[in-house]
Amino acid sequence: MKDYKRYLITSALPYANGAVHIGHLAGVYVPADIYVRYLRMCGKDVIFIGGSDEHGVPITIKAKQLGCSPQDVVDKYHTLIKDSFEEFGISFDVYSRTSSKTHHRIAADFFKKLYEEGKFIEKVTEQYYDEASKQFLADRYIVGTCPKCGAEGAYGDQCEKCGSTLSPEELINPHSAISGSTPVKRETKHWYLPLDQYEPWLKEWILEGHKEWKVNVYGQCKSWIDGGLQPRAVSRDLDWGVPVPVEGADGKVLYVWFDAPIGYISNTVELLPDTWEQWWKDEDTKMVHFIGKDNIVFHCIVFPSMLKAHGDYILPENVPANEFLNLEGDKISTSRNWAIWLHEYLREFPDQQDVLRYALCANAPETKDNDFTWKDFQARNNSELVAIFGNFVNRAVVLTHKYFNGVVPQDLKPEPIDAETLAAIPAIKEAIADNLEHYKFREALRNAMNLARLGNKYLTDTEPWKIAKTDMDRVASILKVSLRICADLAVAFAPFLPFSAEKLRRIMNLSSEALPWEAFCDENLLPSGHQLNPAELLFAKIEDSVIDAQIAKLEAIRQANEAKKAAEEAPQQKVAPQKESCSFDDFLKMDIRTATVLEAERVPKTDKLLKLTIDTGIDTRTIVSGIAEYYKPEEMIGKQICILANLEPRKIKGIESKGMILMAKEENGKMRIVTPEEKLGNGAQVG
Ligand code: 2FM
Ligand code: ZN
Repeated sequence: MKDYKRYLITSALPYANGAVHIGHLAGVYVPADIYVRYLRMCGKDVIFIGGSDEHGVPITIKAKQLGCSPQDVVDKYHTLIKDSFEEFGISFDVYSRTSSKTHHRIAADFFKKLYEEGKFIEKVTEQYYDEASKQFLADRYIVGTCPKCGAEGAYGDQCEKCGSTLSPEELINPHSAISGSTPVKRETKHWYLPLDQYEPWLKEWILEGHKEWKVNVYGQCKSWIDGGLQPRAVSRDLDWGVPVPVEGADGKVLYVWFDAPIGYISNTVELLPDTWEQWWKDEDTKMVHFIGKDNIVFHCIVFPSMLKAHGDYILPENVPANEFLNLEGDKISTSRNWAIWLHEYLREFPDQQDVLRYALCANAPETKDNDFTWKDFQARNNSELVAIFGNFVNRAVVLTHKYFNGVVPQDLKPEPIDAETLAAIPAIKEAIADNLEHYKFREALRNAMNLARLGNKYLTDTEPWKIAKTDMDRVASILKVSLRICADLAVAFAPFLPFSAEKLRRIMNLSSEALPWEAFCDENLLPSGHQLNPAELLFAKIEDSVIDAQIAKLEAIRQANEAKKAAEEAPQQKVAPQKESCSFDDFLKMDIRTATVLEAERVPKTDKLLKLTIDTGIDTRTIVSGIAEYYKPEEMIGKQICILANLEPRKIKGIESKGMILMAKEENGKMRIVTPEEKLGNGAQVG
């Protein structure tokens, strides 16, 4: 394998229009961070590039919903996302944003070079235009009836009800989500990257040259390429993004998927303004993109074609994309709030970042979609981290304090089991390294846990506490071996569980410098006579009540979603149009109060009228009301109602009626009285 001079590791730039959740962490950021930490420990020259993707239509939609500017939206979420990553120990060398000046400049320059070299096709096409709001409409801004399932409110690119991919032309009764008006077709010019021209090269580069890529990644690339590539528009009519740097392109910005990957370059420029070119232009750099499976086509086909068209840049050496993580059997969904949000986890599980890192890596969706369950999370913590790793380290350190005042003892009485145990370690080290280098993080973590298993079993087999009274020399040897394994664990777990590995390093009183990978299996790492620090628990048991509370929280979300869905699916009720507005003063004039019906009887010779005697709290009075079709007299007696008390008295069928009962009436004619949710005293004012 080629020995690279430097490693440029990128992880997908998340959209800054929402928080990040466990799916992001499991699919992209934990594996990328493990890889980067491992490379650093190996002494490699590595930079880890992250940042927020701050352009695109969904951000403008969110801003409209919130009644703020797109910049406000991205400012808020950029900070939230950045903080979450930091707290989870995702060790970016830079975490910047695509709304930055540097990015705008770099992305515009990139476009300009391709434009000037004639690498784009210019095409005029007809797009939907909203004459009321005077703008072209992105597909998401056009709504209408789904031609496939008949659902209202389908978007111009997708129906969320039946999941069909749509084009705006297919929508029945399309209208603008901004103004509600019917859009018209208008001509507009855009620039296209002719991907079809890159097809032969992509075939060669990926299908022949990168057969080692993960099966899911290679397979997706092959099916895209075999399906035939089409030119792709790289600009949009939108007022949020990097303006197209060409004359006469007012109101046009770069398509978000054109500018976002260039963000990897811009963020490198921000990190290393003087030397960034080395990282992007020298063949001795190994570039790896960590992404989720929905980003494969952009990182394997579109961005490489952009880089190839540009000509100055290197290409990714690998793109180890992961599949998706589900949550308790259902797809993670931001709109349905079906997710475990990182900022919430941090609040609810303080100082337990490594537990989530562990559970997500142990169950990472590397080859297929996987499911996160709280029960699995609990079991991973209690049965693995606590019962194996934590228990072993704690026993070894506590016993050393108990018998040797915390000083690493001499190997006074070795036995074959010691040598056999220690002999197993280099193979574990090799396996971890090999799996990490091949992006098999789950397996690498399993190997690391096997080292803890080895130590735990060794201690259980040798039982030093049982011979402490009779054979202290043997105890010394056993603890010496055990502590060596503890030190190795501090190295082995450093890429995966940085917080716990650091804690372990402190307990072992190892150098405050980060431990290099070569310290793994180093006999001299922990010499006899070395003083340990006091024991501390590495992990704490998670009780059932904590897990049950999380499951209940999800259950409440599931029920709320079901209720929402049922309401959406219920036949639409026709409602009367809103009346003309009335002034607040007009409203205040109405004296609405609670009252109780004391007596009720039909008004003779009428079908609709009831005569009610009511206690208003002010007085006892009579009201004649047209509710006989809906309520029998006996049903009304004792009911608390609301009345308009100061309505001018009027005579109805010869009876003086003083006030009016408040009723709610559906358009189909059904009527019910309006009554306080809980019984109140009579005369309580409503308003
Ligand atoms: O899917 C996403 O969340 C995109 N924002 C990823 C962009 S990755 C890169 F191109 F910036
Ligand atoms: Zn549909």
